[in-house]
Amino acid sequence: MSNKSLVSITDYDRDDILSILSSAAEFEKNPNRKILDGKVVATLFFEPSTRTRLSFETAVIRLGGSIIGFSDAATSSSAKGETLHDTIQMVGSYADAIVMRHYLEGAARYASEVSPVPVVNAGDGANQHPSQTLLDLYSILKTQKKLERLNICLVGDLKYGRTVHSLIMAMSHFDPTFKFIAPEELKMPDEYKVFCRKNNIPFTESDELAGNFDDADILYMTRVQKERFRDLMEYERVKNVYTLRNDMLSESKPNLRILHPLPRVTEINPDVDANEKAYYFQQAQNGLYVRQAIMNRLINK
Ligand code: CP
Repeated sequence: MSNKSLVSITDYDRDDILSILSSAAEFEKNPNRKILDGKVVATLFFEPSTRTRLSFETAVIRLGGSIIGFSDAATSSSAKGETLHDTIQMVGSYADAIVMRHYLEGAARYASEVSPVPVVNAGDGANQHPSQTLLDLYSILKTQKKLERLNICLVGDLKYGRTVHSLIMAMSHFDPTFKFIAPEELKMPDEYKVFCRKNNIPFTESDELAGNFDDADILYMTRVQKERFRDLMEYERVKNVYTLRNDMLSESKPNLRILHPLPRVTEINPDVDANEKAYYFQQAQNGLYVRQAIMNRLINK
């Protein structure tokens, strides 16, 4: 068992987070250092991904390491009934670290407990996505020049959105104020509101987007995730609930930056892309440097 895994953002304290962000800045200056020469990283994706898998794989390859794994679990022996326990045991005997995305909440924690090598949670159901959170923090730091005392507006699928759940926990180190904007069906779960109250983090809730983020420093949009709904009728009711358009940004603060973990569907109109406040594509690029910092920390002692 390895205790170096990154399963939840709460595995890292404030100093750990700041250390990763500082390391990411160094990797951004030079992303091609061969510090993982001879190392093998396994990427096991039981759910679809573009950015997370490809940026982790690019991170490792640019650092001189190699990749094994699968992007479609149907091509692995899990399709024959092999347990997650046995898959992790086997892959852990081939690789120096495992990056895993799984549809079950808690799967990454379980994998980290049975793995002989570090495990990175690349998203477990609606629970956590800590590497996304670290790249979100890096993007916030780069655009705002600070992490402390920011107004952050979280919009969309706050019920199933693992990125917003992880972000609340990470920002708790930096005195944020949150606004949660979601329809009734996708409201922020109570456990995260309890977390905010316990940590003296002010928050308000609304179901209105237009005119409701003019005091925000960060507008964090999220996709309504069809794959998390048991009732597809409910998904149909809320799928287009918010669409951010360029004309809605006219009263926003000059320093506002719009983040989105991506992929987007209808929640950000393409006419926002040309606005200098749109930062979601740079945010995804930042993921490369942050994931290099994570792999360096996990594999290089
Ligand atoms: N942000 C994110 O997790 O994107 P992918 O699903 O494409 O990996």
